[in-house]
Amino acid sequence: MMRHLLDLSDAGADGIAAMLREAAARKAARAGWPKGRADADRPLEGHTLAMLFEKNSTRTRVSFDMAMRQLGGTTIVLEGSAMQLGRGESVADTARVLSRYVDAIMIRTDDHAKLVEMAAHATVPVVNGLTDWSHPCQVMADMQTVIERRGSLGGSRWAWLGDGNNVLHSIIEAGALMGFETVVSGPEGYDPHDDAIGGATQRGGRVTLERDPVRAVTGADIVVTDTWISMGQDHAEAKLAAMTPYQVTPALMAAAAPTATFLHCLPAHRGEEVAADVIDGPQSAIWDEAENRLHAQKAVLLWCLGRIG
Ligand code: CP
Ligand code: NVA
Repeated sequence: MMRHLLDLSDAGADGIAAMLREAAARKAARAGWPKGRADADRPLEGHTLAMLFEKNSTRTRVSFDMAMRQLGGTTIVLEGSAMQLGRGESVADTARVLSRYVDAIMIRTDDHAKLVEMAAHATVPVVNGLTDWSHPCQVMADMQTVIERRGSLGGSRWAWLGDGNNVLHSIIEAGALMGFETVVSGPEGYDPHDDAIGGATQRGGRVTLERDPVRAVTGADIVVTDTWISMGQDHAEAKLAAMTPYQVTPALMAAAAPTATFLHCLPAHRGEEVAADVIDGPQSAIWDEAENRLHAQKAVLLWCLGRIG
């Protein structure tokens, strides 16, 4: 069996739950081991993942690479600019060819349509390693982190501060699938796409837009933000100025639930979207969140290759 993970809705609530269980179990089973040692069962022995990057990456690149090694498999890292793709070979032909060499493809690209095109023509699983539209693998790790802190996802309230971007789209989708509420607070003109909100509400999800950041975080269990300028966007002073009231400050964290957890996918810009005292403070879970990319990615690969869920 092979399945693509282009967005979290491809897995649905049952698939996500299965991946989160698998990620937690594998994390626990290898606690304290050297990171380069494979899991005892080496479930992807003999398998190769191609990772194709058209944008920079630290976490996605290293976590998927180590994920494959721990699962007993190997990886090939491809930079789009060094491939024939970079000089006009089609995404469809690239997908067909890579499918003859490797067992799965992870792609980080700008236009979500390229990811969809890749999946349409690949005969092996395709995983979304970030597009301008969404970042589902990040949010798998975010959910794992929240479960570690709170025990469950259902009924929690997540407050997103700042730009209505790709990471937020995946959080909104996850909330609708897994039963948590998302309150979005940012300046006018930078809201998440209507289709992200519409898709979630159609699934019965609870998504609210709240311009007042204090009201948005009041009662929040999770406070989450991301860079104000995503990869591929121009550095715009007007946008930075509009975002300023939405910086996650100690005062905003104090307005959330006293036990609220701070999340950030990283890379972070201290003094812009988040104050250093928050991201480096006791409520921040960012290092566990970053670590969980590895464990979550292992579960994603196993789900895509039909080993779980
Ligand atoms: N959070 C995340 O995706 O990080 P990278 O851009 O470093 O992969
Ligand atoms: N929104 C950010 C996420 C980086 C992991 C970006 O797209 O650049």
